[in-house]
Amino acid sequence: MATRTATVSDLDAIMALENASFPTDAWSAAMMREELASPHGWYVVVEEGERLVGYAGLRAVRGARDADVQTIAIAATARGRGRGRALLGELLGEAVRRDVHQVFLEVRADNPVAQTLYASEGFAEVGRRPRYYQPDDVDAIVMQLDLRGWAAARATATSTGKGWC
Ligand SMILES: CC(C)(COP(=O)(O)OP(=O)(O)OC[C@H]1O[C@@H](n2cnc3c(N)ncnc32)[C@H](O)[C@@H]1OP(=O)(O)O)[C@@H](O)C(=O)NCCC(=O)NCCS
Repeated sequence: MATRTATVSDLDAIMALENASFPTDAWSAAMMREELASPHGWYVVVEEGERLVGYAGLRAVRGARDADVQTIAIAATARGRGRGRALLGELLGEAVRRDVHQVFLEVRADNPVAQTLYASEGFAEVGRRPRYYQPDDVDAIVMQLDLRGWAAARATATSTGKGWC
């Protein structure tokens, strides 16, 4: 598995995955281009050979203590093999480098797979936004992670040789 920082040149491949992963509420190419170009954002992709099979994005304004996981998606054929967790770990690692303290995200209430991934990294539910996802009329669950706790736990896991995943 090879991960690298995304650039605007990845836009078409990312949009293909975006449209396949979020059929009813995908971002537009214009929105995604802005995200990739923003100095406040940081996107990472994972590749299998020449093929881009996943991407994830963080929004962390320089100097701010809060950041957001903006999105994460793995191609359907590449799921269930640790790539989603690896990309999430990359985002959180970048947030640590930017001296963020709290990371937030929103996840659809009807997406138990993503919720389980986030909870297993230490995110906890802190609120709900009723009917946030339209046109599907699905609630958003707002989750929060204490990043310093996450980094400390990861350092302990590494130093005891237990690994993280
Ligand atoms: C959510 C998503 C990114 C996870 O990526 P992935 O590569 O499949 O996940 P991983 O293999 O890294 O698994 C991480 C954890 O997710 C959970 N998980 C993964 N697949 C699961 C499944 N089929 N059922 C239940 N939980 C599952 C498990 O907790 C797993 O940890 P474990 O392997 O230690 O049990 C991927 O399913 C995806 O792209 N979904 C569509 C887009 C999406 O919903 N994005 C999230 C928006 S908030």
